[in-house]
Amino acid sequence: MRRLVRETWLNPSQLVLPLFVRSGENVRQPVDSMPGVHQTSVDEMLRDAEAAAEVGVGGVLLFGIPDHKDAVGSEAWNDEGAVQQAVRALKRELPQLVTITDVCLCEYTDHGHCGVIRRETGDVDNDATLELLAREALSHARAGADIVAPSDMMDGRVGAIRQALDGAGLSHTAILSYAAKFAGPFYGPFREAAESTPQFGDRRSYQMDAANADEALREVLLDIDEGADMVMVKPAGPFLDIIHRVKHETGYPVAAYQVSGEFAMIRAAAERGWIDCERVMMDSLLGIRRAGADVIITYFARDAARLLASGG
Ligand code: PBG
Repeated sequence: MRRLVRETWLNPSQLVLPLFVRSGENVRQPVDSMPGVHQTSVDEMLRDAEAAAEVGVGGVLLFGIPDHKDAVGSEAWNDEGAVQQAVRALKRELPQLVTITDVCLCEYTDHGHCGVIRRETGDVDNDATLELLAREALSHARAGADIVAPSDMMDGRVGAIRQALDGAGLSHTAILSYAAKFAGPFYGPFREAAESTPQFGDRRSYQMDAANADEALREVLLDIDEGADMVMVKPAGPFLDIIHRVKHETGYPVAAYQVSGEFAMIRAAAERGWIDCERVMMDSLLGIRRAGADVIITYFARDAARLLASGG
């Protein structure tokens, strides 16, 4: 009877698994603060993606770790970069899996910021960054990405990317914008995984203040206006009210990112035997769905899908 009247369902096809790719072969490097998460070369990435697809995971989100970083992050738009190669491999081997690429400069810049730095002031230069992000997105789309997902939080990037894609005949490539992305401590473990810790300052000049909900709505509406097809709220667990408002006030497809810190907290407590990992994982994902997310990006995607597939 509980099943009969259940209001919210988790479906593997709505889960997206983040993957970290780098150059080389047979590379599989564990990330210390994220048990079960690895940096891999493209060949190994395919195995993880295949295992995820087997249990019905809907998509993957690719992050690249370049061999060389520089001031402007030029590896980001290298057509032979790790992400671009990963996209081509995925679309060839697992075409049913939705391939999403993270578009940002922080993994590619030597200073670790998401945009270029204006020399005179030391600030992130919003407008000078837009063209570089558009170049990166275009390179991902040309490789075959189904969706590009800008996570940099520069103002105007969705419009710049949409224009670049349409200009290149790539009007079918969708944009999932990290629209309401809050600055804060929850991204710590990710920065180890992606080697993207800012070398000075923090991201508060471009990411949002955790205290602001109305502003989150304005950010979302701006991105929709500029051509976003789907919008994201990130982190997920501490921002369920934002997920709820975005879903109900826009009616747009909403993705929520259960970020590295949320994942690490659950895994760490479970490793100590203080909580039941599977049950907390499922309740955390269900809460995000119940708040209104259509899509959940989570490092638990494969584990949760496997559990769902086995009737758990
Ligand atoms: C890049 C980016 C970040 C995350 C996704 N894309 C890190 C950041 O903004 O510092 C975080 C993901 C996670 O913590 O799992 N800008």
